[in-house]
Amino acid sequence: MAANWKMFKTAEQARDFFRDFLPLVAGHDRDEMVVCPPYLAIPASVEACRGSAIAVGGQNLHWEKEGAFTGEISAAMLLAAGASHVIIGHSERRQFFGETDDVVNLKLKAALEAGLTPIVCVGEVLEEREAGLTEDVLRRQCLRAFHAISGKKAAKLIVAYEPVWAIGTGKTATPQMAADAHALIRSEAEKAFGEEFGQQLRILYGGSVKPENVKALMAESEIDGALVGGASLDPKSFAAIVKY
Ligand code: PGA
Repeated sequence: MAANWKMFKTAEQARDFFRDFLPLVAGHDRDEMVVCPPYLAIPASVEACRGSAIAVGGQNLHWEKEGAFTGEISAAMLLAAGASHVIIGHSERRQFFGETDDVVNLKLKAALEAGLTPIVCVGEVLEEREAGLTEDVLRRQCLRAFHAISGKKAAKLIVAYEPVWAIGTGKTATPQMAADAHALIRSEAEKAFGEEFGQQLRILYGGSVKPENVKALMAESEIDGALVGGASLDPKSFAAIVKY
């Protein structure tokens, strides 16, 4: 169960969140939990989560180890700050910051090389779904993201299916729509990394996940977890989702 805080919360607000959130999920060991705050709140989040079962992740990274890349953050920097996970290719990065499938592939390679657990996001926009292109888009995004990566290297990979039309809109894919997309992603992972890998791959659903709809989504055997934006900003709401 992963939280994507996007551009919300200062270090102090992150501390406040964990003060309230940790007691709500103390002893909850059914699900792995990761929270991805903005970069500047990572150290405070890591500190707050020390001794708990909650991992901390970045929302993005640069693929080079270091260099003249103003405003960018490397995998090693995330690790040094105590992050263990990183979101890659979120639709907002693709939409607003020009990230392409090839950039997602470079970032995935860099994250795996460094030992971070990557959460690679794929998903179609509304026009693509309405034009019947969902399968083509998901296939292309997976194929390009997984390009030239071995199954052994990819061991930690997590994929998140996030239909772009469901992000922050209150519209959720039906559990069946999500399950169909997950099955397709799984078959692409099988092609790229082998059948066993595909069977074990964890695929999260993201897009307006809320305490009210998480249970029905998680009832689908294809759905292994959730990537939660808006509803993860409030400790009670994210705890309710985690403990669906
Ligand atoms: P949402 O965002 O839960 O606010 O729809 C999900 C995401 O973008 O990861």
